[in-house]
Amino acid sequence: MTTFANSLLRIEQLEISCQHDGKWRPIVQDVSFQVFPGEIVALTGPSGCGKSLTAHAIVGLLEAGSRVTNGQVFYQDRDILTYNIHDWQQLRREEIALLIQHSLNGLNPIRTVRKQMVETVSQRKQSTSKKELDMYLCSLLQQVGFTDPESVLASYPFQLSGGMRQRVLLAMMVSLQPKILIADEPTTALDVINRERVLSLLKKLQHDFGLAVLLISHDQQSVKRLADRVIQMDRGAIIR
Ligand SMILES: Nc1ncnc2c1ncn2[C@@H]1O[C@H](COP(=O)(O)OP(=O)(O)OP(=O)(O)O)[C@@H](O)[C@H]1O
Ligand SMILES: [Mg+2]
Repeated sequence: MTTFANSLLRIEQLEISCQHDGKWRPIVQDVSFQVFPGEIVALTGPSGCGKSLTAHAIVGLLEAGSRVTNGQVFYQDRDILTYNIHDWQQLRREEIALLIQHSLNGLNPIRTVRKQMVETVSQRKQSTSKKELDMYLCSLLQQVGFTDPESVLASYPFQLSGGMRQRVLLAMMVSLQPKILIADEPTTALDVINRERVLSLLKKLQHDFGLAVLLISHDQQSVKRLADRVIQMDRGAIIR
């Protein structure tokens, strides 16, 4: 991992400021790190240190009241902080997938898994027959460990456990074939068994597709088990 030029993602002296009581002040400061193709890098640190802000900045999804005030983010040597809305959308559709924190609420409660998966899959795949599409959806669900994909497709989110919903979201992300997945606390809300399942799945995706993962987690056990490399943040900066 010594070649500097081949990194997939390179963050340089990133500074993100947030607005509090009408004043902007830096929350994330001088954060620099790289992610190389196919590796799992953990970004860890105490609550509030700026991990989610960093993740959102990378994919152009900072909320109102927060913005990048210094530094650069390169994806395959392209300076993506200069991107417009269209470029960001394409980047998120084709290159970098973000599994947001609290993503268990990320599925629409009143639509079946099939409907929601079709919507995501059609961003990437040309229209095919219904039968072909169903086979494809089933194969995606099988890849994330479901043995009865038909019944999952027909389900509404509330009929699935938290771990199952997280795996459905991961299946949707797999269909976008990203080069890098940023998973923001993907296991925090899960029980031990589902935590293990999701972690094993991330490892499998790395192995099968050469997927790079930026795993944001304060669960030290998960981090130790999974990460090839650990980046430690504290109060907005990298400490090691
Ligand atoms: N849109 C915003 N406007 C103002 N302040 C914000 C905004 N988003 C985040 N912050 C502040 O920035 C700090 C860092 O938030 P962030 O969500 O990145 O932390 P985190 O490291 O992901 O924490 P956790 O481990 O709890 O998820 C917090 O103190 C938060 O209050
Ligand atoms: Mg967070």
